[in-house]
Amino acid sequence: MIEIITKLRQDFDSLLESASDPKQLEQIRIDFLGKKGKLPALMKELRNASPEEKPQLGKDINLLKQHVENKINSKGACLGTKSSKKSDETFDTTLPGRKELTGTLHPITQVMEEITSIFFGLGFQVEEGPEIETDYYNFEALNIPKDHPARDMQDTFYIEDETVLRTHTSPVQIHTMENREPPLRIIAPGKVYRCDSDVSHTPMFHQIEGLMVDEGVSFSHLKGIMNIFLQEVFGKDTKIRFRPSFFPFTCPSAEVDIQCVMCSGKGCRVCSQTGWLEILGAGMVDPAVFKAVGYDSEKWTGFAFGLGIERIAMLKFGINDIRLFFENDLRFLKQFPNL
Ligand code: DAH
Repeated sequence: MIEIITKLRQDFDSLLESASDPKQLEQIRIDFLGKKGKLPALMKELRNASPEEKPQLGKDINLLKQHVENKINSKGACLGTKSSKKSDETFDTTLPGRKELTGTLHPITQVMEEITSIFFGLGFQVEEGPEIETDYYNFEALNIPKDHPARDMQDTFYIEDETVLRTHTSPVQIHTMENREPPLRIIAPGKVYRCDSDVSHTPMFHQIEGLMVDEGVSFSHLKGIMNIFLQEVFGKDTKIRFRPSFFPFTCPSAEVDIQCVMCSGKGCRVCSQTGWLEILGAGMVDPAVFKAVGYDSEKWTGFAFGLGIERIAMLKFGINDIRLFFENDLRFLKQFPNL
């Protein structure tokens, strides 16, 4: 019987040697270890051995069995398959665990939170308003009467005649002033909607509105706050400039530019060779707006500003197509680990 065991071991070794795919390996396993395999058959044979020989032969058969199992398992690992016999030896406890996937904040949320915390540090509180607005809050109270040409500046989504998806966050100014007395400093981040779509416009985007009302608030306060804010977002050396502009709800009005972040003011494609990038609209609150909310414009003055978050995020991260923010492509989103 000793010879049979030795022969079986040789047969096995050479068969294993020639096995080159998982299927062949499985066949060998069945032939040797399967219920009707060669090793169980050998075990049965053991019954016929003499009592003196039995212990040694039993040991030899067990050794052969172990040999067969080990070899099949390690060859299985080489061939890239799990051997069907689960053995602790295939489980490598030294392998590092699988990394858990953690999500990150959306880049727009990150920029929104960064801007909010800058203004928080300057004493501004966060206010919110509805995304579905009446014509009154979105336009009338902001000194944009019906048929005013400024309505054409914004491609409005109408829900009903007098109900719109807000085209800007400016109506939050009105809600706030209706409900609170000055002095106040607020910012209002949120979603806004315009019927527009190309590389720099999406039908939904985000804005932050700002409003400060107090006694003696002047244009220089606006300038100072904008300077601090923009240098905080784009870096301490960022130069800013104010350009005269027009908004119905502020007077005087300005557009605020920063020196181009791509070319440092030398002139490039992004800034259309001007060296400057338009960043936000701002101005002193128009007395007509104070009148609409019942504030005394002889006593109170204030400034307001509004900016698009996507635009800031695009400049900050060097993104050239706004639509990337809304495609939810993980390859894009993974590039913005939480700040
Ligand atoms: N609401 C304006 C817009 O969506 C942005 C804006 C400009 C807001 C000037 C202001 C402001 O508060 O003073 O285009």
